[in-house]
Amino acid sequence: MSLFNKKKSQYVGKKSIIIYFSRADENYAVGYITKGNTEVVAEYIRDLTSADMFKVERKIPYAKDYNTCIREAQEEQQKNERPELVATLDNIDDYEVVYVGAPVYWGYVPQPMVTQLEKLNFEGKIVRPFTTHEGSGLGSIPSQLKTLCKGATIESGLAIRGADAHSSKNRVEDWV
Ligand SMILES: Cc1cc2nc3c(=O)[nH]c(=O)nc-3n(C[C@H](O)[C@H](O)[C@H](O)COP(=O)(O)O)c2cc1C
Repeated sequence: MSLFNKKKSQYVGKKSIIIYFSRADENYAVGYITKGNTEVVAEYIRDLTSADMFKVERKIPYAKDYNTCIREAQEEQQKNERPELVATLDNIDDYEVVYVGAPVYWGYVPQPMVTQLEKLNFEGKIVRPFTTHEGSGLGSIPSQLKTLCKGATIESGLAIRGADAHSSKNRVEDWV
């Protein structure tokens, strides 16, 4: 085998889905964007794995302006709310591997992800977390997912700086 061949991923061939949240509009370090950083990474993962995708969307979107969004999301997190979603994924029965992607919001997943993940049965699933962030890495998300995805094996995650999302394809590929 050539030295340049990439090792075949143990996840290839397993039916997979990417469940993610991502917010466009004004964001830290990148100004106004039309596609969220986490969505950029989620699409790289999809391109590499052919996984299905489900985007978690808050029924009432966070404000477009960054500082207002910060306040809304912080309050929601402090009150441990479960915001309503545009649509809910009912089950993940068809999948072995679940990629769970989110921006880090004060160390944790945004509350709309909590609304969604709590509705699913993760027994026996492989969960691969990924985040985009501006300094916190994966934050407390891996341990949070142990609670939210009961019965799943939580694999080591991938953390990409939001401002680097568009140039992250090689890192994403190595991780996938
Ligand atoms: C409400 C809010 C809270 C955030 N909290 C953190 C944080 O705790 N740590 C961090 O590194 N970045 C934090 N960020 C930055 C985002 O994680 C980062 O910009 C991310 O790439 C946004 O992803 P998105 O474009 O997919 O929504 C926060 C951003 C917002 C809007």
